[in-house]
Amino acid sequence: MYTKQTPLENVMQQASLQVKDERPSLPASLTRQTVTSVHHWTDRLFHFRITRPADFRFRSGEFVMIGLELKPGKPLLRAYSIANPSWDEELEFFSIKVPNGPLTAHLQKIEPGDEVVLGRKPTGTLVLDALVPGSRLYLFSTGTGIAPFASLVRDPETYEKFDKVILTHTCRQVSELAYGLDLVAKTREDPLVGEFAADKLIHYPSVTQEPYERQGRITTLIESGQLFDELGLPPFDPAQDRIMICGSMAMLQDTKALAEKAGLTEGSNAQPAEFLIEKAFVG
Ligand SMILES: Cc1cc2nc3c(=O)[nH]c(=O)nc-3n(C[C@H](O)[C@H](O)[C@H](O)COP(=O)(O)OP(=O)(O)OC[C@H]3O[C@@H](n4cnc5c(N)ncnc54)[C@H](O)[C@@H]3O)c2cc1C
Ligand SMILES: NC(=O)c1ccc[n+]([C@@H]2O[C@H](COP(=O)([O-])OP(=O)(O)OC[C@H]3O[C@@H](n4cnc5c(N)ncnc54)[C@H](OP(=O)(O)O)[C@@H]3O)[C@@H](O)[C@H]2O)c1
Repeated sequence: MYTKQTPLENVMQQASLQVKDERPSLPASLTRQTVTSVHHWTDRLFHFRITRPADFRFRSGEFVMIGLELKPGKPLLRAYSIANPSWDEELEFFSIKVPNGPLTAHLQKIEPGDEVVLGRKPTGTLVLDALVPGSRLYLFSTGTGIAPFASLVRDPETYEKFDKVILTHTCRQVSELAYGLDLVAKTREDPLVGEFAADKLIHYPSVTQEPYERQGRITTLIESGQLFDELGLPPFDPAQDRIMICGSMAMLQDTKALAEKAGLTEGSNAQPAEFLIEKAFVG
């Protein structure tokens, strides 16, 4: 119902609009978005969701620049994989908390209602379009490298293109697996992709620095054949298997070497092929 404003309310509204207008403008490549939820998984890991601009389009698996205006109008930005699928109304990010990290020392304190700066141009190589057709999709991740795959395992297109989707996640500690365990459990119950995921999605977590039901680096589990034995699958086959890899530089190098040894070729957006890599962080 329309209610007429009193002169005082009118003045107050003008004043509040004035405050908004006075904020320093951002470069045209950036927008301000609002945090809608935050969940802390460990003292090193959290995820958060933000509003999504109506014109923000991305392909599942891409990353985008996000940041905080630590100085008004001059945001500090970092690359972040978009962790939700492209059909989601919001945007989700899974983040590390680096002690004294220029961005994450502050980002870890965000709360619903706070503002985050978002780039307008997502990009990246971990996209389905950059792979040639195959029947099995391996998604190899360590640490926060699971983020782009959190997007892909929730995208129906992934299950349209592949008969089996194997998501591996290796962390130092058991507690660091929690986001991935929750993701897979919820994906299997999701009204949109749950039916396909229940049938096709295999989760393969492992831990390297603590006792766990499965221990060891993913490279060791591949090389020893334990991965294939446990899944009842043949070793990598360039005719059937497609691979995406996301982790530290060292993990990328070592896992990529195993894919190449099996005869798979690295692809890109410009030249789709059999496996793809992307850094989970620099350093
Ligand atoms: C393509 C790309 C995608 C990325 N996606 C994500 C993502 O989805 N989630 C995320 O948390 N980070 C992601 N990062 C890393 C991110 O850009 C920042 O480095 C991170 O947010 C820390 O920022 P900072 O300013 O606090 O510290 P920085 O100065 O950026 O980093 C300081 C040091 O912390 C370590 N570090 C940084 N990020 C990580 C990490 N994710 N895991 C473990 N150690 C790390 C490295 O040793 C780095 O040298 C991505 C990086 C790239 C290049
Ligand atoms: N996670 C922590 O508890 C912790 C605590 C303090 C500081 N840090 C620092 O934070 C940074 C990032 O740590 P992170 O744990 O997020 O990421 P990370 O060091 O990349 O380790 C994540 C997982 O990847 C494995 N891995 C590392 N190198 C690999 C390789 N070449 N091939 C295959 N697997 C590999 C690790 O196994 P391994 O365990 O065998 O290396 C670990 O299980 C590091 O510099 C680390 O020193 C981490």
